[in-house]
Amino acid sequence: MKKYRYLILFVFILPVIIVSCEYEFVQPIKVTLPNSVSYATDIAPIFDANCTACHNGSYKFDLHTANSYNNLKNGGYITPPDATCQLYVNVSTGHSGVELSAADKALILKWLQDGALNN
Ligand code: HEC
Repeated sequence: MKKYRYLILFVFILPVIIVSCEYEFVQPIKVTLPNSVSYATDIAPIFDANCTACHNGSYKFDLHTANSYNNLKNGGYITPPDATCQLYVNVSTGHSGVELSAADKALILKWLQDGALNN
């Protein structure tokens, strides 16, 4: 029996080790950002398309294009204008099952870091 020990190791255990060493290549997500982000052109349409099913004025605040900037600003959701503000926390954590694309999240973060202007 003793002389089969290594045979058993090779036949049964080695394949398990080899298979478990397999690894996957994860492609990094490439996001190309414009030099300047405009609220009206780039950001408001994201909120209009993805948020107004719930945030339509009857729930918390209205994120339709005509009202979204003022509601976010006056409600304090974009202060401070960085990744720690309530808007970005909600956007980046995917609350209520809302998961924006990596490109949309990057756009929103850049817009915030550029001063969160109504531009
Ligand atoms: C399916 C419904 C739904 C959608 C769509 C939705 N939200 Fe919300 N949102 C909620 C609920 C419910 C809360 C309160 C609970 C929470 O914070 O998770 C909330 C809270 C928030 C808050 C924090 C409000 C506060 O006073 O604390 C922000 C900011 C916000 N949402 C932004 C957004 C943005 C931006 C989008 C679109 C990208 C969006 N939401 C889409 C349901 C939704």
